[in-house]
Amino acid sequence: MSFDALAPWYRTLEWIAFGDDLQRCRVACLGEIAAPKHVLIVGEGNGRFLRELLRLHPDVEVDCVDASERMLQLARQRVSDELGDWGERVRFLHRDVTLWSPPERRYDLVVTHFVLDCFAGAQLAAVVKKLGCSATDDANWLLADFCVPSSGTARFRARGWLAAMYLFFRITARIQASALSDPTPYLRAEGFVLARRDFFRRGIAKSELWGSEPAFANVVAGARS
Ligand SMILES: C[S@@+](CC[C@H](N)C(=O)[O-])C[C@H]1O[C@@H](n2cnc3c(N)ncnc32)[C@H](O)[C@@H]1O
Repeated sequence: MSFDALAPWYRTLEWIAFGDDLQRCRVACLGEIAAPKHVLIVGEGNGRFLRELLRLHPDVEVDCVDASERMLQLARQRVSDELGDWGERVRFLHRDVTLWSPPERRYDLVVTHFVLDCFAGAQLAAVVKKLGCSATDDANWLLADFCVPSSGTARFRARGWLAAMYLFFRITARIQASALSDPTPYLRAEGFVLARRDFFRRGIAKSELWGSEPAFANVVAGARS
């Protein structure tokens, strides 16, 4: 699996397919959480979520883990160009999260945007468990990803898009998964509770805020669905 070859084209391809909707999806719940101290971003990609996080919370410390060196370079370049002195606050870690051992109970915010869809079955369960163990007792978890509406023409449309996207990413990035798996039961098993969910692009993408229950005191908005 490698997103290196795709990395320079990723932003353009996303814009052609989805316009700005996926970026709106990434940041939709960001304003809902109290200022985090230690953030883990897994599969950050080219740095557009990271930039918004640093703009909103300039004092945060971030570990940014990605298996693609090229994506990490783009992310590093973006924050450097657009935010200037981001100093020591971001550590860019070139790691495969399936092999990486994160520190235990370290992060009060975990972010997995459009990355859990690269995993399926036991591997998805293991990744969520590992990240859950790296979260503090009062952590929040931001998750943006694709999804399939439960009925109607939107459901058929979403299934068509997903089939095309999985074919594309299996060929170009050699991802392991061949279909979308729902991480919801694994997040619940780690003690996280859904605080907010918003849908985008006629229900094909979702933005979720999950909290460990003590963290709900810090959540501004209540559950919406
Ligand atoms: C589909 S891209 C999503 C990028 C970005 N988060 C976004 O919102 O568009 C998936 C990202 O996850 C990274 N990734 C995929 N599998 C990974 C793994 N096993 N370990 C670490 N990063 C991984 C890829 O390198 C890529 O940057």
